[in-house]
Amino acid sequence: MQPKIIIHGGAGSTVESKGGYEPVRKSLFAVLETVYPMLLDGAKAIDAVVKACQMLEDDPRFNAGTGSVLQSDGQIRMSASIMDGDRQSFSGVINTVRVKNPIELAKHLQTSDDRVLSDYGSAELTRELGIPIYNPLTDERLAEWVEERKTNFTRKMADVAMGTIGAVVLDRYGSICVGTSTGGRGFERIGRVSDSATPAGNYANKLAGVSCTGVGEDILDEGFATRVVVRVTDGMTLQQAVEKSITEAKSRDRDFGAICLDANGAIAWGKTCPVLFAAYHDGEKMQDTL
Ligand code: GLY
Repeated sequence: MQPKIIIHGGAGSTVESKGGYEPVRKSLFAVLETVYPMLLDGAKAIDAVVKACQMLEDDPRFNAGTGSVLQSDGQIRMSASIMDGDRQSFSGVINTVRVKNPIELAKHLQTSDDRVLSDYGSAELTRELGIPIYNPLTDERLAEWVEERKTNFTRKMADVAMGTIGAVVLDRYGSICVGTSTGGRGFERIGRVSDSATPAGNYANKLAGVSCTGVGEDILDEGFATRVVVRVTDGMTLQQAVEKSITEAKSRDRDFGAICLDANGAIAWGKTCPVLFAAYHDGEKMQDTL
């Protein structure tokens, strides 16, 4: 089977908050240049997803891992999940702190009895696994929070908030896996739960996988990732499923984007907002959605 991969680094109204198209394209292509050869060499979908997400979490341009936005109390709380399509198994962490790669915790939980852990539980797991404490704060995100605090967080979200990252992979064995990781919406209440570690934002089965980015509440309200995968399972093509689901979301003024892939190797994406920061390798070449 020809491996396929699509990744995203968020969605939004403009590309300006990320420094223009070229730097974003460069960051995304660097991930594809590393991960696609792994897939050609026989890497499993889950390992490719974890590697792609780790690279995106480590890039401070995106709102996940290093460079995550701050919540209203000035803390960073991150969420990440993985869904293995073959086993239809979801795992993730919600509002985890002081860890470099939340996606690693999500991967570890794939084989656990308790597959979604929130704040204290994920901190305990981090300790158990001996993962070093890490501060994902960057000067840029801190400055943004300090500025916003002056007006008591009147903006709906941080400028960079739509920088959630994700990856959907079809490996050479025909297996699909999807991963998503986020710092959240930015300036939110303590305890707010993102869509990224729920099946609304990250879902896969044997036939299709979807990762979402954008306003978490809108993605939750649409149950978007699951909605698209179920439509494919019930017989729609991936493109039809994405188009119908996006049309419905637009009619309800939602604000998000999604990347999608199916077991036949079809790649698709959709958005209700102007820009989706995504790139893919279709087996022949790298392309982007910018
Ligand atoms: N989609 C990320 C969030 O809203 O938290």
